[in-house]
Order: sequence, then C-alpha cells, then structure tokens
Amino acid sequence: MLKTHQCGELRLEHAGQQVTLAGWVHRWRDHAGLVFLDLRDRSGIMQLKVDQASAPQAHALARDVRSEWVIQATGTVVARPAGMVNPDLPTGEVELEVSALTVLNRAKTPPFYINKDENVDETLRMRYRYLDLRRPSMQRNLILRHNVIRFIRNYLSDRGFIEIETPILFKTTPEGARDYLVPSRIHPGKFFALPQSPQQLKQLLMVAGYERYFQIARCFRDEDQRGDRQPEFTQLDLEMSFVEREDVMNLIEDMMIRIVEELTDLELVTRPFPRLSHDEVLRRFGTDKPDLRYGMEIVDLSDIAGASGFRVFADTVAAGNPVRAIAAPGCASYSRKQMDELAALAQSAGAKGLAWMAVEPGEEGPVRSPIAKYFSAEQLQAIVERVGAAPGDLILFAADTAPVVCAVLDTLRRTLASRLGLADPKKIAFCWIIDFPLFEWNADEQRWDPSHHLFTAPMWEDVALLDTDPGKARGQQYDLACNGYEIAGGSIRIHDRAIQEKIFGLIGLDVEDAKQRFGHMLEAFEYGTPPHGGIAPGIDRLVMLLAGEPNIREVIAFPKTQQAADLMAGAPSEVDPQQLAELHICIVDSPRG
Ligand code: AMO
Ligand code: AMP
Repeated sequence: MLKTHQCGELRLEHAGQQVTLAGWVHRWRDHAGLVFLDLRDRSGIMQLKVDQASAPQAHALARDVRSEWVIQATGTVVARPAGMVNPDLPTGEVELEVSALTVLNRAKTPPFYINKDENVDETLRMRYRYLDLRRPSMQRNLILRHNVIRFIRNYLSDRGFIEIETPILFKTTPEGARDYLVPSRIHPGKFFALPQSPQQLKQLLMVAGYERYFQIARCFRDEDQRGDRQPEFTQLDLEMSFVEREDVMNLIEDMMIRIVEELTDLELVTRPFPRLSHDEVLRRFGTDKPDLRYGMEIVDLSDIAGASGFRVFADTVAAGNPVRAIAAPGCASYSRKQMDELAALAQSAGAKGLAWMAVEPGEEGPVRSPIAKYFSAEQLQAIVERVGAAPGDLILFAADTAPVVCAVLDTLRRTLASRLGLADPKKIAFCWIIDFPLFEWNADEQRWDPSHHLFTAPMWEDVALLDTDPGKARGQQYDLACNGYEIAGGSIRIHDRAIQEKIFGLIGLDVEDAKQRFGHMLEAFEYGTPPHGGIAPGIDRLVMLLAGEPNIREVIAFPKTQQAADLMAGAPSEVDPQQLAELHICIVDSPRG
C-alpha cells in the first residue's frame, strides 16, 4: 500500500503517530518558510505542514505542487496549535508535520474548481465527468447510493428474497417507451431488444417457483429525456408469489421508512403512507404524483360556480365539466405583472384563462376580483370558506374539462409552492396511489391502452367488466409517489392465460401478434403459475430525493445528457463499415421522425 491511513480518519488520538498519506492536492498556501497543503482522498481532507527548516527537500517540492497533483506524504500527526483548530473539518484538530514528500503524478489545471461546490456548466461537467466526480458533493451522492443499495440487498436477503440476474439481450418488454435494439451478427436481420424492465423474466421466475426474487436491475428506455429520466436507469425490481397488494405495499413501505431513518436526516412527514385512490388524488392534487409536503389542495367549486352569473363558469358546468380552485397563501398582493405570469403559466398547461379572487386583508372587501360582480355576497363567502382562504390569500380558478383543470391547478400548485418555499427540502412525504383504471382510451388508435402494463391484473371483482365496460375496470396497480415524483410502480399480475388473452384483445393485439411477442408468457401460464405480484422502485429517483438533488444525473456516475448522449466518451458514435457489414446493416438517410 502506498498509504497507511486515509486522510479523513486522523484525529487527536493519532497525535504522535508516523503515517503515510496519499491523495490529491486540494489547496495549497505558501507562507514564508512553511507550505500548507490540504490533501484530499475519498475519505476527506487532511492538512499537511511542510517546514523548510525541518524538511528542506520536501519543502522545495511542496512549493512546486499545484491543485490536483497526486502526492504521497510521510510525517507525524500533531495537534494543531491553539487558535488554528478548524471546527468545520473532521480532521481539524490535527495536521501532518511532513518529513518526506513524493509527487506521484502531475495534473493539468482542471477546467473547473474541484475544491469549491460552485455551479459549473453541465456540459463541461459531463465532458470531464471523472473530475466532476472528484467533487465532494458527487462523492457524497455516490456513497449514499451505495449505502441505499447495500441496505436494500440486506433488507430483502433477510426476508427470504434471492437476487437473480436476468438477461440484457432479450426480447421487447414493453413499458410504454421505445426499445433500444441490438442487431444480431449470427442471425441476419434479427435484433435483440434491451429490456425496458425485467417484467416478463421476473414473472417467469415466479412460474419457476422462486417465490421471492429481487434484482438491482438496469433498464433501458428510448423516450424523451427529463430531469427524472435517463435512457438507462436502475430499478430495484422485485416479485413475490402468493401475495396480495397489501403484502407488497407493506414490505416496501417498511423498507422506505427504514432507509429514510437510517440513512438520512430527512423528516418523514406522512406515516403510515397515505393511500389515495386514483380518483381522489386527481381531485385533490391534479396529478397522480402529488407533493404532500404542503397543502394548497384543489377544491371543487362546480356547484357554486355553475350557479353564478359568470358565463365562462356557468357554461363549463352546464357542459358537465368542473370548476376548481386553489388558494395561494399570502399572494393577494400579487402585482399585475405577477398575475400575468401566473396566467401565462396556466395557459402553458392548457388553460383558456386564469380567473382569480384576492381575499383582502382586513375588513373591507373582502373579495377583490374582476369577476366578483358575477357572484352574490353569499356565493363569494361560500367560495372563500370552501377553499379555506384566509385574508391575504389569492384564489385561482380553472374551468375546463377535468384533465385540463387537473393539469392547470397541478402546475400552479407546484410552481407557487416552490416560489413560496413550501416544498421543504428537509422533508420527505410518501404516498400510495391505488385503484387506477386498468385502461386508458386511446382515441387516435380507437383502442384501450393499459394504464400500467399489459400484465397487470384487474381487481378480481372487476373481471366481468372486461366484457361489458372495460373503461370501468380498475387495476390491481399501486404506485408510490414522493415529493412530487413517481418513485415506484407495481401490481398484482394476471396469472391466467384466458384473462391475459382477453387483455391482449382489448389493447388491439391480435392472436398471432400476441403469440409472436408473448407466446412464451402465455405458454408458461399453462404450467402451474402461482398468483404473484411485485413492484419496481426507481433507484435513481429514490436516491435523488434522499440526497435532495434536483435531477437524477446528480446521483448517477456516468449519466447521459438530455440529448441521450455521453459527452465524455462521445457516444453514440459512428462505427466502422466493416462492423456494419458483419451486422448486415446498411445506413440509409431517412427523414427524421
Ligand atoms: P414502471 O415503468 O412504473 O414499472 O417503472 C418503475 C419505476 O422505475 C423508474 N423509472 C425511471 N427512472 C429513471 N429513468 C427512467 N427513464 C425511468 N422510467 C421508470 C421510476 C418508476 O416508478 N415492470 C414495472 C414494475 C412492476 O410492475 O413491478 C415497471 O417497470 O421510479
Ligand atoms: P373574461 O370575462 O373572458 O375577460 O374572463 C374573465 C376572467 O376569467 C379572466 O381573468 C380570464 O382569464 C378568466 N378565464 C377565462 N376562461 C377561463 C377558464 N376556462 N378557467 C379559468 N379562468 C378563465
């Protein structure tokens, strides 16, 4: 070993010991006759003191070193003189009096500071990711990620789960995205698909009798990138036999609570996790991934608004659509310009306009609004009461079809909460969403689309609805939402060939197509398939929330950019014509689509 200790582990109790350290030069200061170097390794930072009088050779070298050079230092740990103790550093009570110094490698000047947590252009960070990963914040995140994964492995192993690897070269496993395809050299014109999830394989493991499986599984999805999406990402994929929905939910809930308690300082605000039906969550929050760290809930005002003299509202309600509102605390004094901004935001979410009422502080008024004249005093009073608005609050209305109203009020609620500082980064709030409809109607294709995936079982009591009114059938699906993100999705599965075939039919897969794509599943279902179900939390999203980061790129060592590219290695890239020929592939120019 080129070192006897880690930089970050030295304390007063080591004083008097001779040690050798190795790492990167974090900072250096040259005083007359003394050079101070902050030496960094993964464990932390240790101050080195190189004295010209006692170690002239080391001192001469130390004057030459620069940031990010790799050095090795031998010396004696000593207590820092009184007044020089650094309370911000775990090693701040000691320093290393260096007797010998070796430069192990030099470094070019890095393109950005490693020793400061400042905002660096992300393109530059991605291009030099190996330097970016040296920064303490990235190290903290990757260590947290490791701890979360280790915790999960232990937790599940202790409860009878076994980890089984499933193939990456496989067949299409639809989860609603495009597949990444891999051409086969040996089978001309044929392709593997990288799994969007191990969904089929984990179900087949249940057919095979493994009962409790998990995997820290890499998944691949070619879809539009966002801050919480990557083309390849990691799931904790899990499946259990002989269980019902409650069993899977209880297991994951307990595991999440322990992860938060044991690995973070976050305050768990919802415990037990609330269970909201899909209907309820849309009504109250406008989204199926609500942020429960704050209130500002959506309230339905269709009855009052429909009876008012305001045409837009009355017509909306007459057409069977809702009028709903939220009350933004303390925003009654918003300026004209701020109101215009909110209206533009609402319009970007689909609104036709943004009606508002300001509840004036104090006695007068009490409601100031361009549409107040269309309402009786009692109606205004009833609105203020129902939305729970206090003096000084601003009521914002959306009148449209239910999906538009949900989108508009969800957008306003999230934006205002973040502006008003209501989304406390020290808090974490989970909730379960259950009772999803099994299907969504796809008007373009005139068929049903599965709301989760096509292996999700209907509620057993709703099976008959598959023949009569599929839109009314609920699925045995459960999603876990946290701080405004969906972090896990799962379901009890279909284990019966006849029901599975019926679902294929409803989503417009004809028998031949279904056989071609999922024949192996249908066949397996005929050989004694146990009732089973599972779930898959996204590890990247979970760690992002635990680390308090704004996007998942901060918790992935080598992520892709928003354009699904690796800027460091330059991937994807062209390949040599010889390779293409071997793969029987010919590149043609085609219109981008
Ligand atoms: P689902 O598609 O809901 O379910 O995915 C489960 C979880 O995976 C995470 N996730 C992603 N994370 C980062 N980037 C992405 N592109 C991405 N896509 C999904 C989310 C999501 O909640 N096979 C089912 C699970 C099951 O039914 O057991 C599935 O994959 O956190
Ligand atoms: P108008 O009478 O059309 O000027 O509208 C009065 C107010 O209602 C304006 O602030 C509009 O932005 C708002 N408004 C119009 N349509 C809607 C709607 N569908 N939902 C909410 N507010 C609306």
